[in-house]
Amino acid sequence: MTTPKFPRRVFSGIQPTGDLHLGNYLGAVKRFVEMQDAAWETVYCIVDLHAITVTWPGRDEMTRATRELTAAYLACGLDPDKSILFNQSAVSAHAEIGWIFSCVARLGWMNRMTQFKDKAGKNAERSSLGLYAYPALQAADILAYHATHVPVGEDQRQHIELARDIAQKFNLDYGAAYFPLPEPVIDGAATRVMSLRDGTKKMSKSDPSDQSRITLKDDADSIAKKIRKARTDPEPLGETLEAMEGRAEALNLVRIYAALAEISPEAVMAEHGGKSFSDFKPVRADLAVEKLAGITAEMNRLLSDPAEIDRVLMNGADRAAEIALKVRKDTYDILGFVSRP
Ligand code: AMP
Ligand code: TRP
Repeated sequence: MTTPKFPRRVFSGIQPTGDLHLGNYLGAVKRFVEMQDAAWETVYCIVDLHAITVTWPGRDEMTRATRELTAAYLACGLDPDKSILFNQSAVSAHAEIGWIFSCVARLGWMNRMTQFKDKAGKNAERSSLGLYAYPALQAADILAYHATHVPVGEDQRQHIELARDIAQKFNLDYGAAYFPLPEPVIDGAATRVMSLRDGTKKMSKSDPSDQSRITLKDDADSIAKKIRKARTDPEPLGETLEAMEGRAEALNLVRIYAALAEISPEAVMAEHGGKSFSDFKPVRADLAVEKLAGITAEMNRLLSDPAEIDRVLMNGADRAAEIALKVRKDTYDILGFVSRP
């Protein structure tokens, strides 16, 4: 079986529940925009089918959150003329290929997924089957576009590796070399932004403490306040990155600053090393406000015209379906499902 060369194509997605936070922005959306602007072929999705795996957001909330995430994508610089932007449920091939992939994935593989263990907690017996199967749907999201590169935060590495395993087993079982093995793209200073209250936990939409995260809906005042109150140890910044080893909260602030300023963490240390946090935090708060306030304003402007947002999504869905329905048809043909010629 020879492996064909697949053209480079980027796919990624974010769930439309909870407010987009600094971790999502630096770890995902900002990098989506960079890949778009570097002239990659880019497909970005709002994964609404994934957003019902833990609880039902409810009808109005689902619609509202989908429009809000679309507005955030656009306000951060995604451009519907350069990228395909759409919501997952609008393209049927995701669920259809997802089913086939749940017949490819092995229970042993799914049992290793750490995100399921974290999200299900002690209540695994009462979790939905969807939460357990969701990485197979995620593999379908990616492979329905024959995507070769998937920009995500560090927490998604295991799911992209599962997508590779699924592609490989499908290809092997059918002798087809049909799906590419997608590569995770996890780079930059902020692939794992930590909570502002606890440097051992990642910043997350589901943390009960609003102080733990900065969201794209925070105004300048609350951004500045959250940074000023961010937990640190009493020591000043070290002189070098190595000297900061073991100081999770302090390192987190350095990494966030580096990602916002688009410089390396080493360069941050060269400029600010040795400063006290009472000197460093205001500099950082100013930079965060400068970078994020414009996004929030633009998001609010876009949200005042929901019909235009829906139009962007449906146009994107038409373009996405052109690619994904062909992949579904090829997949069905490989399996031998009888269909119209
Ligand atoms: P989610 O909010 O789980 O839908 O995540 C959407 C995207 O943001 C995924 O690519 C995640 O890997 C990324 N992401 C989520 N939380 C963080 C974080 N704390 N730091 C960096 N990236 C993150
Ligand atoms: N599972 C991802 C998350 O929770 C979201 C996601 C769904 C995704 N499908 C995807 C990310 C495909 C990358 C590619 O963050």
